[in-house]
Amino acid sequence: MATRRAKICIIGAGNVGATCAHWAAAKELGDIVLLDIPDREGVAKGKALDLACCGPIERFDSRVTGTSDYKDIAGSDVVVITAGLPRKPGMSRDDLIQTNVGIVRSVSQKVAEFAPNSIVIVVSNPLDAMVYTAWKVTGFPAQRIMGQAGSLDVARFRAFLAMELGVSIEDISALLLGGHGDDMVPLPRLTSVHGIPIGDLLPAEKINACVERAKVGGGEIVKLMGTSAYYAPASGTIQMVEAIIKDKKRIIPSAAYCENEFGIAPGARGKGCFVGVPALLGAAGVERIVTFKLAPDEQKLMDESVKHVKDLVGTVVKLFPDLA
Ligand code: NAI
Ligand code: 2OP
Repeated sequence: MATRRAKICIIGAGNVGATCAHWAAAKELGDIVLLDIPDREGVAKGKALDLACCGPIERFDSRVTGTSDYKDIAGSDVVVITAGLPRKPGMSRDDLIQTNVGIVRSVSQKVAEFAPNSIVIVVSNPLDAMVYTAWKVTGFPAQRIMGQAGSLDVARFRAFLAMELGVSIEDISALLLGGHGDDMVPLPRLTSVHGIPIGDLLPAEKINACVERAKVGGGEIVKLMGTSAYYAPASGTIQMVEAIIKDKKRIIPSAAYCENEFGIAPGARGKGCFVGVPALLGAAGVERIVTFKLAPDEQKLMDESVKHVKDLVGTVVKLFPDLA
């Protein structure tokens, strides 16, 4: 019996969006639609056509198309939102909130209208607050809305450790929690090299240097290139798309809705928040949050990160009171 190909729609055909399309096509995860604003429809169509022409070489049959018409996202299994401004040198992710909340709000309205059954992965920054925005606007169950940050941040942490140790990145296992800001929470206690605790292989100052570099890894790249990273962010996003499309039940740190997990107490309005936690991703989206007990110093860092995320959500609500 013929099975239907998955449909992956990527909103925003800029650096991150187009690179997501690239990784998704290379892995032949499904048919791909790249959507941008009408003024940039040519860019979306041009990049899609360019990518489609890699098919014969890279051996994928995914159809890749570009558009500015939301009708083309109908029937999406997964929608990835990358629309929005990236950082410039000297900017924090939070500086983007004013512009990006309006963009993510308008995109999310369209996603709810044209792809009401999709699972949504938000990438636009400031990440955790933009996931909240998409959740509020779409009205989708929290299970079907998540943000990409942890898969990137943990990949950076693993990459820096592998460089330090001179071992394969495949053997480094690590976990990271919290918001997608410089106060994210890497967990060296749960980091190992083929099961060997990292503390047995590297002195504390070297581990800390990798932790600190992972925290500001995005900023390091912005300083070098004048705009934000896109290869690893897109790779992290497509890791999540793959887990969903293939129902892999992978545990990937993702910004997922928490109410009581990891000490996240409901806020003033009795609500939880979206923040980076180990999420089990499968066909239904975030199928489960995997919890465990944090050490007191880890919990303190997590509390600070969650407070930062809640403050950002407060800014979203100030800008758009209907999102409360
Ligand atoms: P970019 O400027 O290359 O692309 C953004 C695209 O969004 C542009 O093509 C633009 O025309 C489009 N766009 C703007 N408004 C739109 C709308 N209303 N509808 C559809 N498309 C719209 O930026 P880049 O580098 O791709 O970054 C995109 C976003 O992703 C930024 O907010 C950036 O901060 C964020 N980001 C997040 C990461 C994460 O780990 N969560 C990592 C890297 C970037
Ligand atoms: C990054 O971490 C800017 O969020 C983006 O590279």
